[in-house]
Amino acid sequence: NFARHSLVAAIAAITTTGVALQAHAATEVNLGHTLSSSSHYSVGADAFKETLEELSDGAYTVNEHPSGSLGGEREMIEGLQIGTVDFVITSTGPLGNFVPETYVLDLPFLFEDYEEARCVLDSDLGDELLAKMSDHNLVGLAWSENGFRHMTNSQREIATPEDAEGLRVRTMENSVHQEAFRQMGARPTPMAFPELFTALQQGTVDGQENPITVIVATNFWEVQDYLSLTGHVYSPAVVLGSPIFMDGLSEEERGWFEQAAQASAEATREEVSRLEREGVALLEEKGMTVKTDIDVAPFQEAVKPAYEIFTSEYGNEMLERVQEKA
Ligand code: PAF
Repeated sequence: NFARHSLVAAIAAITTTGVALQAHAATEVNLGHTLSSSSHYSVGADAFKETLEELSDGAYTVNEHPSGSLGGEREMIEGLQIGTVDFVITSTGPLGNFVPETYVLDLPFLFEDYEEARCVLDSDLGDELLAKMSDHNLVGLAWSENGFRHMTNSQREIATPEDAEGLRVRTMENSVHQEAFRQMGARPTPMAFPELFTALQQGTVDGQENPITVIVATNFWEVQDYLSLTGHVYSPAVVLGSPIFMDGLSEEERGWFEQAAQASAEATREEVSRLEREGVALLEEKGMTVKTDIDVAPFQEAVKPAYEIFTSEYGNEMLERVQEKA
């Protein structure tokens, strides 16, 4: 049971003269994410905690639960809805299952680079998508970041979509991503992240795709020899709150949590940028064979049907709006 509990920061003490001293209780909230405590999400969790504690003058404290200890991303989102989890930093991977409006962000090759993606998420369109989450029993607080996703596998170098043919690639539990990999000729296997390392180790799947940040933080070089910098999709992350917790806050308190989420997102983006600069060299040092000069045009062509399938289901209004802003 991950229900929040109060920490007694100072226990009432009775002096010898019988005078009762004051008791101060800090309310502890839990924050879950699936990555290790050396990851970009953990940097974001630290910033959330520091900012919240400072703004609330110690009235609130944050207990970080890294490494999927509160469950995979889909499970944690469910936890927010029923109030067993207070805050989550998650990719948008499973979010579309709850808030279909966000599926648009998961389309492959939607954004050219980090600047473009951040600019769209920080626009009124990004705010609108955050606000939409309250229609689905979630509180969207800030757009954070996971990063551009690249492919790793244990079998061979991938330079073209044909090289991915037949490979069993773990994808997130996201129908847009699964379709894109199917179109590439790979065999997509949706799976929650906490199960992935063992699946790669035991050969249940041949490969996976994630940003450099995640490949570094999860030691994937131990079970994957090849990395191809396909950058096939930008993976946003989001700081989400539980409506059950947030609805009980005053306006001022709500503002503290919103600012803490914003600080978390900013710190995470900085860490993503640092690892984008330094991570590839580190992975090469660890023994991975890295294919850097990928011609993305054939990959773009291969995943085009994923766009058609997406628009036939969700229409093209949102897609057009994102593309206009990008
Ligand atoms: O691959 C995923 O499921 C996500 O990218 C991860 C690693 C959980 C980070 O949000």
